[in-house]
Amino acid sequence: MAIKCIGILTSGGDAPGMNAAIRAVTRTAIYNGYTVKGIKRGYHGLMTGEIVEFQSKSVSNIIQQGGTILKTARSKEFRTAEGRKIAYENMCKEGIDALVVIGGDGTLAGALTFAAEYDVPIVGLPGTIDNDLDGTDETIGYDTALNTIVDAVDKLRDTASSHERLFFVEVMGNTAGYLALNGAIASGAEAAIIPERETEVDQLAELIHNGFRKSKNSAIVLVAENPATGGAMGLAERIKKEFPEFDARVTILGHLQRGGSPTAKDRILASKMGAMAIEALSEGQRNVMIGIKNGELVYVPIKRAISHSTHVDLRGLDIIRILSM
Ligand code: F6P
Repeated sequence: MAIKCIGILTSGGDAPGMNAAIRAVTRTAIYNGYTVKGIKRGYHGLMTGEIVEFQSKSVSNIIQQGGTILKTARSKEFRTAEGRKIAYENMCKEGIDALVVIGGDGTLAGALTFAAEYDVPIVGLPGTIDNDLDGTDETIGYDTALNTIVDAVDKLRDTASSHERLFFVEVMGNTAGYLALNGAIASGAEAAIIPERETEVDQLAELIHNGFRKSKNSAIVLVAENPATGGAMGLAERIKKEFPEFDARVTILGHLQRGGSPTAKDRILASKMGAMAIEALSEGQRNVMIGIKNGELVYVPIKRAISHSTHVDLRGLDIIRILSM
């Protein structure tokens, strides 16, 4: 069946650049003769029918805005077969023939299940600050979040060195250490503690025993959030007990990392990927995510995108260690 109307939604954690992606999808679709419908609050809105037709001007003046004009949600109901049935019925009622979904692994996993049950053409765009999707070198929002981390660490460095303190700075990442590792390289931090090395070694003990503060009076350690170890708070507790000679402080950057105007890099990535999503649907692609590999846009099967089989390059830890001597 020829596609006439494309629905677009953002789901899961918002990421800077989602609006740039919405703009690109909408305008490329309209340019190519499709009708576009914006679905509010992700899959939740597909079930409740919060759907509006988008014109070109619906996406004016949003490329520079963080967040998502479509709003977002993490829908529990869509994880049930009944929820997805209602969503499909609403899609039919609205005349939506295909979907572009923007989000992270949960969003893409939902798309895959939905497409398998109802044979709906779906193309995904990687929208998450975590950068934890396979088949793409970068996700939309990651670069902005990294820059936010660098700005914050630059500020913390001033007070850390004035007071000669050890700072644990907790960053997001879900279960991945991309933000912590590359945030540490970019901010010249003394170390990064990431979940990918958790099972191998006691990273905190290793740090202290390597005498990482011998030549310095202050230090900044980027810590990836990790409920299993308590993240930065957990490490600070351990420092108090095991290494009381350190004057440690904790800063949790939290949702700050999800906000802000997207960087030029994220706007360009989102614009190119958004345009490519429409090309993909026109070509008859389905169940693919748009990725970027070595500067080239590529189609990645959604199944692979959410497989979590590619991990952060651990050689980055050596770089941090050597460069922070
Ligand atoms: O996936 C994006 C992300 O910000 C993760 O880094 C983090 O673990 C999670 O979302 C936080 O989710 P919420 O906004 O629901 O607290």
